[in-house]
Amino acid sequence: MSIPVLTIDGPSGAGKGTVSRAIAKQLGWNYLDSGSIYRSLGIACLQSQTDLTNAQAVVEVAKAMILEFDCGDELKVKLNNVDITAQLGTEATGSAASVVAAISDVRAVLLQKQKDFQQPQGLVADGRDMGTVVFPNAERKVYLTASAKERAKRRYKQLIEKGIDANLAQITDEIQARDKRDMERETAPLAQADNALYLDSSDLSIPQVIDEILDFIR
Ligand code: C5P
Repeated sequence: MSIPVLTIDGPSGAGKGTVSRAIAKQLGWNYLDSGSIYRSLGIACLQSQTDLTNAQAVVEVAKAMILEFDCGDELKVKLNNVDITAQLGTEATGSAASVVAAISDVRAVLLQKQKDFQQPQGLVADGRDMGTVVFPNAERKVYLTASAKERAKRRYKQLIEKGIDANLAQITDEIQARDKRDMERETAPLAQADNALYLDSSDLSIPQVIDEILDFIR
């Protein structure tokens, strides 16, 4: 019997991470935060001062990196045996991730790492191309989005709550630049999969989004 998969794709800041983690916990399923794989690669490249636009060099870094995930209440990631959790969420890491993620050979190298998360009892997979490329046969697919303004506000609030200095206008620009890169790249661009449920979370609370998705998969 095949292992069920729920894919949740969408732009950054739409609430995919929080929603996916909560649904996985409720269902007792595994959780794949595919963005963290690209983020880890971004960190590995920055650490080794690899030119992010040199496809061949980035592919070598992707092949060599050893990642360990601890998907408890908070995701913890080790890169080559060193904890990189604290650097995962920064905008610098997100931007580096979106540059290396546009390289098609890099995506090919990281494909199997993502498929390996499909384990009993099921999988909630969050990213940009979960429903279109990595798990095209998933039973249930969701496209979760929100306006860029709302996503920037959420990100700003998160940073301020963590005591990190932030600038709303700059965050809005960064989010829009990342959306553009993710949607316009040639390989596996961010797009709504056929038959995916479209959900705009701009005016919805996290529990409302979770309920909508749970209703959809039942
Ligand atoms: O979701 P998150 O913001 O952590 O993703 C960081 C970046 O990784 C995205 O902006 C995107 O460029 C890339 N990514 C991707 N495909 C995925 C998940 C993330 O290209 N499935």
